[in-house]
Amino acid sequence: MELNDYQRQLSEQDIQQDNHRDFVGGLWDEVGEWQSRFMIEHGGLKPEMRLLDLGCGCFRGGIHFIRYLRSGNYYGMDINASLLHAGMEVELPRAGLSHSVDWDHVLVHGQFDASGFGVQFDRILAVSVWTHLPLNHILLCFYQMAKVLMRGGIFFTTIFEVPAIDDFWSTQAQGMGIQSFCYQDPYHYPVKVIEQLINLYNLPFQLTRMGTCEHPRKQVVLALTRI
Ligand SMILES: C[S@@+](CC[C@H](N)C(=O)[O-])C[C@H]1O[C@@H](n2cnc3c(N)ncnc32)[C@H](O)[C@@H]1O
Repeated sequence: MELNDYQRQLSEQDIQQDNHRDFVGGLWDEVGEWQSRFMIEHGGLKPEMRLLDLGCGCFRGGIHFIRYLRSGNYYGMDINASLLHAGMEVELPRAGLSHSVDWDHVLVHGQFDASGFGVQFDRILAVSVWTHLPLNHILLCFYQMAKVLMRGGIFFTTIFEVPAIDDFWSTQAQGMGIQSFCYQDPYHYPVKVIEQLINLYNLPFQLTRMGTCEHPRKQVVLALTRI
């Protein structure tokens, strides 16, 4: 069983037809604007901070952050090279942001290792990334983010939430026609499971459940403060 569909590379033709926007979930303007609004109003993001956009895709949120942050403070990482290519070559020029991100600020990587940037980040954001990941990948993600997030810095991530898991095989309606699962993409988790993971592995994070914060797809935001 495939973890998710993000190993698949889009063709040049796909990108010319803007299929990359649907590949990252559509709602291009809504979810993009929501990300920057959320980070500025609730996430304490300031222009002088350094942000890692983890699983940045083709910059649905990125274009807003790149405009807002001081030049050079945006960093993106994603497993899918074709999405990063669409972001750099199509979405940045379209947003009037050509050449505003250097290629050494974006990284194709699937195991969450951002240490190559040589930066301690103030904020990390992963929107609609954990929703595509099984639990052991989330554990790996915690370990890797702990290395690059400064003490007191905050890692915001979104999940599809379920109150509890009584039946491994049951699905959960998440609205807008989306069903989530324990065993396949899109994944859902009780917040308690994430909390217990932190405790069980002694991870240096303090978790706050922030609720849906008006996320257009009703994903729940978790704030993970590096301690
Ligand atoms: C639903 S898209 C969201 C993209 C972006 N955060 C946004 O809001 O537009 C999920 C993204 O997670 C990326 N992704 C999936 N697994 C990943 C991994 N192991 N490491 C880095 N990125 C990953 C995908 O390639 C894709 O770009």
